[in-house]
Amino acid sequence: MARIRGRRNGSPRRSFTYQILNNMSKNDSDRHEVEDDTYASGDFSQGAPKSKFPKSENNPRNAYALVHDELMLDGNSRQNLATFCQTWEEPEIHKLMDECLDKNMVDKDEYPQTAEIEARCVRMLSDLWNSDAGENAVGTSTVGSSEAAMLGGMAMKRRWEAKRKAEGKPYDKPNLITGPVQVCWHKFTRYWDIEHREIPLEGERFIMTPEEVMKRVDENTIGVVPTLGVTFTGQFEPVKAVSEALDQYQKETGIDIPIHVDGASGGFLAPFCAPELEWDFRLERVKSINASGHKFGLSPLGVGWVIWREPRDLPEDLVFWVNYLGGNMRDIALNFSRPGGQVVCQYYNFIRLGREGYAKIHGACYQTAQALAREVEKLGPFEIIFSGKEDEGIPALCWKMKDGVDPGFTLFDFADRLRTRGWQVPAYSLPADRQDLPVQRILVRHGVSIDLGMLLIKDMKEAMAYFKNHPQATPLTSEEASGFKH
Ligand SMILES: Cc1ncc(COP(=O)(O)O)c(C=O)c1O
Repeated sequence: MARIRGRRNGSPRRSFTYQILNNMSKNDSDRHEVEDDTYASGDFSQGAPKSKFPKSENNPRNAYALVHDELMLDGNSRQNLATFCQTWEEPEIHKLMDECLDKNMVDKDEYPQTAEIEARCVRMLSDLWNSDAGENAVGTSTVGSSEAAMLGGMAMKRRWEAKRKAEGKPYDKPNLITGPVQVCWHKFTRYWDIEHREIPLEGERFIMTPEEVMKRVDENTIGVVPTLGVTFTGQFEPVKAVSEALDQYQKETGIDIPIHVDGASGGFLAPFCAPELEWDFRLERVKSINASGHKFGLSPLGVGWVIWREPRDLPEDLVFWVNYLGGNMRDIALNFSRPGGQVVCQYYNFIRLGREGYAKIHGACYQTAQALAREVEKLGPFEIIFSGKEDEGIPALCWKMKDGVDPGFTLFDFADRLRTRGWQVPAYSLPADRQDLPVQRILVRHGVSIDLGMLLIKDMKEAMAYFKNHPQATPLTSEEASGFKH
């Protein structure tokens, strides 16, 4: 944005505004700087810079309005039913985030209280996930579950390497077994040269089973990663059954294979809404767990957690020790500088809500998800794959087209149509070997009320009526529809 000549250093554009401003005294010009209507100001007379680094300054009020307005095109995040991440926060969280703008999580010496708050969260999560570590709880905050998963995975690899070295065996062909996982595990195995044995989907089986895991284990398996809340359908994978199968395998072969649970979503759900479900450190074989604070941990975007069962499960060579306030503190994260506000807000949520508050909020989400599943089923052409039951998965619902039914539109068309009302209800193909099966999913999180859900159902009915009157000549593909990608 160039300034208009006469105000300081501007564009030579001889507009009407230019002529007015050129006849002004400096006082007039300064006054106009303050009083100008934003949208009639010189700063708005040309488009915002998009490639070339801007030459001159602009009025902050005008620059803000320009950026603010552009963000409107992102749509309304509260209607984004694809994301697992928080889109509504209490006013106190907004305040704390503002107060923490200057806190760098890595500067434990300069912000010792933020560091202390992080350590408290680590101990509380270790307790929530039933570790006996107590005051010796070991873990860290991260930027999200992806970083936390990498750290959990790296620890498994190091432990396996150390064992193989001690036994005088080769350690150049590590493999990792997972069900259908989020892309962070593809990144992990590729970045760290690990063979990824990802169990393909088959028929109506969309998650890992102990039988499928056991077909793939061997002495080079660094670990098995069940997901508590599979990204594609929302279902929990059977951690306990997999753990028992691995116990049996150890009895028969002597090979001890650890489990890391990807609890990105489920780690903050099951403890409150399905406390009987054994998936965490109650199972001896579970050595580490990751979860996203910014998903069902209810904190703002930018915080994840990884917790190890006990200190010996975290290999010492992954730890950097930093001195602060005369003490020694672990630094494990991959990143260096990162914001501390999200961690502070995580602690706020823990003390604000406790087990009771989390159970209430997530319980309401499960009820909404189940009610929506009943409504979607009633629409006619859809078959529910997962209906948001507490002990089977996360508060989400997932459906496909009924076999043999052609309502005149695809799920991709349906997703696209719902977007005209602002709703983002992703349709996508499942991973291998069911890429042939498109599904659609709704994530119900804090702030997706039953009322909002029923407004969506109304729009779904209207979308179906629209397609009845305007059958789709050329159905949309997944790429064309919503751009939604995992
Ligand atoms: C099961 C699972 N693991 C890991 C991740 C990555 O989490 P984050 O976005 O916090 O890095 C996700 C994200 O949706 C997920 O669903």
